[in-house]
Amino acid sequence: MASPLHLKQAKAPNAMIEAAQEKTEDAAGQGAVNTRHERARDFEEARKALLARPGFSVRAQIYLGFALVFLFTLITVIGLLMSIYEVDHKVRFLETVNQYLIEIEQARRFEKNYFLYGTNLKDGLENVSSANRILDSNKEQILSITGENVYNQMLSNLKEYEVLINRLLALGDAWDGSEAHAKEALTDEVREQGQNMISLAAELALKERQALTKTISRARRMHIYFLLALLAIMTVNSFILARRVLDRIEQYKTFAQRIASGDYTLITPKRSYRDEFTELALAVNQMVLDVEAREELLIQSHKLRAVGTLTAGVAHELNNPINNIMITGHMFLEDYESTDDEERMDMMNDVVNEANRAKAIIANLLDFARESGSQLAPLDVAEMLKDTIALASNRLKRSKINIEFSSTDKLPRVHGDSQQLRQVFLNLILNAIDASQSGGNITVTVLPADEPHYIAVKVIDYGTGIPKHILGSIFDPFFTTKSQGKGTGLGLSMSQGIITKHGGQIRVFSQEGHGTTFTVTLPVTTFPAKITEETHMSPLY
Ligand SMILES: Nc1ncnc2c1ncn2[C@@H]1O[C@H](COP(=O)(O)OP(=O)(O)O)[C@@H](O)[C@H]1O
Ligand SMILES: [Mg+2]
Repeated sequence: MASPLHLKQAKAPNAMIEAAQEKTEDAAGQGAVNTRHERARDFEEARKALLARPGFSVRAQIYLGFALVFLFTLITVIGLLMSIYEVDHKVRFLETVNQYLIEIEQARRFEKNYFLYGTNLKDGLENVSSANRILDSNKEQILSITGENVYNQMLSNLKEYEVLINRLLALGDAWDGSEAHAKEALTDEVREQGQNMISLAAELALKERQALTKTISRARRMHIYFLLALLAIMTVNSFILARRVLDRIEQYKTFAQRIASGDYTLITPKRSYRDEFTELALAVNQMVLDVEAREELLIQSHKLRAVGTLTAGVAHELNNPINNIMITGHMFLEDYESTDDEERMDMMNDVVNEANRAKAIIANLLDFARESGSQLAPLDVAEMLKDTIALASNRLKRSKINIEFSSTDKLPRVHGDSQQLRQVFLNLILNAIDASQSGGNITVTVLPADEPHYIAVKVIDYGTGIPKHILGSIFDPFFTTKSQGKGTGLGLSMSQGIITKHGGQIRVFSQEGHGTTFTVTLPVTTFPAKITEETHMSPLY
């Protein structure tokens, strides 16, 4: 991490460049404010959009599911109760009809005995009035099943039977003459009437028994249908609920990985409703914003640390032009008399040129060190690489390392933040220097990448290489194999963050003892756009 000392070292040159390059600094400051402002606005927009949807919480769905099952069970129970009531009703009716039949049959038995032996037909009348009482006391029940017509029919049948028997009784024991003839006719009528009554009652009983069987089997089927429907409801509800919750959790796992890899796209609404996960989305967005702000600070402090290590080299680099200026200045003063105008002009041109060189060296360093937020522009990657190599040139010289730079002609530009990208390249070059032995070589190349619309920057060294077992950790924050004070372990993790934000990738290929190649791919652009949105247009939530 950057110490306060580093911060001070960087702040002082900052003040200088502010004076020297007011115009650029202004624009840069504006850019930084804008970007931060834009992010805050994006956040606010995402928040509003997330909250604008109608709410349908997971809790509500759970309650609704239970309510649905309860309602369904209630309806089924009511249905079953109604079936039970119906069965009960029918059984009672059958009992009544049965009693009625018993009475009638008894009456008919007396009737038969009378015809055979001439005995107590009067007793039959008692059964008839019993049957009448049965019909009377169960009137409501019978009416509800047979309807008024049949009931009245039964009543009038009984009445008629009674009348016929009474008439028969009134005729007495006469078995001859005209009376006997009438009696015979009456006998037939009584028989027929009795038979009618029995068949009507039996028919009713049969019908009701059939209806009863139907009701019972319907109730049985209802049980099965109910179970099946309940199973379906619960399955669908569980499925929807599980998908809603588990899918979201899975999605947030992806978000976490995405954020960890440095992609800070804000979560925007994708579903048509809002629930508990919306709260989570808001919290994650807030976190992304905070992490982003903190990372910016970290990048800045890391950068200043790099500047700290470079400053000594740059100071050394400045020696040459300043020496030249001094020598030329002295010569100018000493030989003023003996030189002509043209020679003097040459001298002064030299001074100006050397001063410009010194200025360019300082500008390069300060441009790199300058504190600013994201500032996006179309960038010439080859130019950036040249500047970065110049920045590290003294470190290279001191370590006696030879650097070779090559680039393909007319490469398209990339859209991005020049400071951040230069910081990435510097990290890679400094790592390569650290890994190389004195007298070693480093190659830096920029060329079109294998994927269309991307360019690739390769930083190749032939140094120690990276052991396989740590290859998976080198992009982790604070992972370093360098001694305390030399390495922070932040270079690669930050570089990855920056490159991801630019929609690119950073890859490593290394062979222990043979060297390492870092490849950075960046999307080329022909139009200006925001870094994150350009490459991650699809809504994520
Ligand atoms: N070109 C390279 N050759 C060998 N090892 C490297 C190279 N670049 C990075 N590493 C390994 O990755 C680790 C992490 O690098 P970095 O994140 O830049 O942190 P730092 O340079 O501060 O250690 C280094 O400590 C080193 O072990
Ligand atoms: Mg490093």
